[in-house]
Amino acid sequence: AESRQAAIGPFRPLVIAHRGASAAAPENTLAAFDLALRQGADYIELDVQLSRDGVPFVLHDDKLERTTDGHGIAARRTMRELEALDAGGWFSEAYRAERIPRFEEVLRRYGGKIGLLVELKAPELQPGLERAVAAALIRFGLTGEQRLEEEGPGWRRAPLIVQSFSLPSLKRLGELVPSVPLGIILSREEELEQGRLHEMADLATYANLRKQLAQPKLVRRVHGSGMAVFVWTVDRRREAVQAAAAGADGIVTDEPDRFRDWIKKT
Ligand code: G3P
Ligand code: CA
Repeated sequence: AESRQAAIGPFRPLVIAHRGASAAAPENTLAAFDLALRQGADYIELDVQLSRDGVPFVLHDDKLERTTDGHGIAARRTMRELEALDAGGWFSEAYRAERIPRFEEVLRRYGGKIGLLVELKAPELQPGLERAVAAALIRFGLTGEQRLEEEGPGWRRAPLIVQSFSLPSLKRLGELVPSVPLGIILSREEELEQGRLHEMADLATYANLRKQLAQPKLVRRVHGSGMAVFVWTVDRRREAVQAAAAGADGIVTDEPDRFRDWIKKT
């Protein structure tokens, strides 16, 4: 546990902007990512899927309806079709120009400047997703050997972490780019059984827990397996205080600008 906490350094708990600064700008767009950067988040969390023509793109839902003016299953569209959609107007008129970003555009724009927590979305439905993501990481030199700018001696922050609910998907990615740090997303207490955690820790450096699991006993157990602990999705002061007190190393939030105030000791 201690070594993981030291590895994260003085920024602990890290502030991770969920789909960007998604309370104030349309999720998973460059507008939300730029805002997270300006608000001083340590990481941007984003969701990656694969287009029909094999281009990784950034969107949360499998369907287009909620966050774009398109219809149907996103992964059945070509990248050109996806890029023609309005991905901001649903949030407010001011964001009509926002587009579904290509994953590579995100790597080019933010890689090394701010941490990236990249979620492989529904990998069981998207064969080839890991291969396409791995190729992009290699192309942009974000394979895990690099360091973020502000690091000091004796600790490091990974510029990019790949996470998923799917352990098999993380395994596939890890085989293609063995040095990239991996995170497993966990939502049920049964998954935090000690034997299972040790198995996951062979592969993953981070466990990202649903906020209901942010309890000192459970966080200690995860630390005991050797993984660092993130907590999602924390959007209230009470939840932030609870996650920080439970020992979280990072907090995934829609409101990265408010998080540090929430946990400030008064
Ligand atoms: O970081 C974990 C969290 O993003 C998982 O849930 O549905 O927001 O992708 P979801
Ligand atoms: Ca996500």
